[in-house]
Amino acid sequence: MFSGTLVTSGQGIVEIAATGPRTELGKIGKQAKAEPTMLQTETRRIVRLLAITGLGACCVVVVAFALTRDPITFANVARAIGAFERKLVTPGRFDKFLGGDTSALTDPEAKGLAAFMDAGCVACHMGPTVGGTMYQKLGLMKPYPTKDEGRFQETKNEADKFFFKVPSLRNIDKTAPYFHDGSLPQLEDAVKVMVEYQTAKGKFSDEELQNVLAFLKSLTGELPGDYIKEPAALPPSKTTPKPDPS
Ligand code: HEC
Repeated sequence: MFSGTLVTSGQGIVEIAATGPRTELGKIGKQAKAEPTMLQTETRRIVRLLAITGLGACCVVVVAFALTRDPITFANVARAIGAFERKLVTPGRFDKFLGGDTSALTDPEAKGLAAFMDAGCVACHMGPTVGGTMYQKLGLMKPYPTKDEGRFQETKNEADKFFFKVPSLRNIDKTAPYFHDGSLPQLEDAVKVMVEYQTAKGKFSDEELQNVLAFLKSLTGELPGDYIKEPAALPPSKTTPKPDPS
């Protein structure tokens, strides 16, 4: 029943939730109320269908929204954004390199990667995402001047003082300003602070710095045009609420 509307894009997900099989989903909803086990069976059927079409489990959540009474909640919006972001990947030359094509990086970029590894940046910015997998102390080698106590504010655990999420460095050239407080406008400044406060190396030579910057810029990938295309507005139904900009 969903075959016509299932496409592997963010817009596809929105369509499933909001248009296309709305009547089908409505039917499922009504039947589910009358017969509670039916929802489970239906959900399993949808999961199978999504698996076949390659859409993955995250969409199930979105489909599930359409079955609930009040789908537009803060938590559901957060889930939908999460589902969107998990599929928002930007492969680039670095992935070719990771895939074994050593010519995918230029000479300065490859030297920059070597300097990045030698300086120990990979202790924190690790894996294919080049970070994003842990919290670490900002100011590991010497105190970093910031009033923000980081994760400690959430956990009240002394050991978490000045711990921040280690950001992924994918597309880092495109995501200025840097750090938790956006205090550093230039990538170069962020790298200088990192080598000084986070590593035993303390300082990059001018050449190393330029190479590391070249490497970091090589982490910029291609944007998936179709996936991030603005979705076409859906025609309003009788029950669509009027826009309320207040
Ligand atoms: C001990 C862990 C650790 C090491 C080692 C480390 N970093 Fe970081 N890095 C962090 C943390 C934590 C942040 C987030 C700081 C913040 O939000 O204020 C960060 C932030 C950054 C940023 C800014 C990212 C953004 O989106 O704002 C860059 C660029 C960066 N690091 C590059 C490097 C480089 C280059 C090295 C090696 C010289 C390095 N890091 C070594 C933990 C580390």
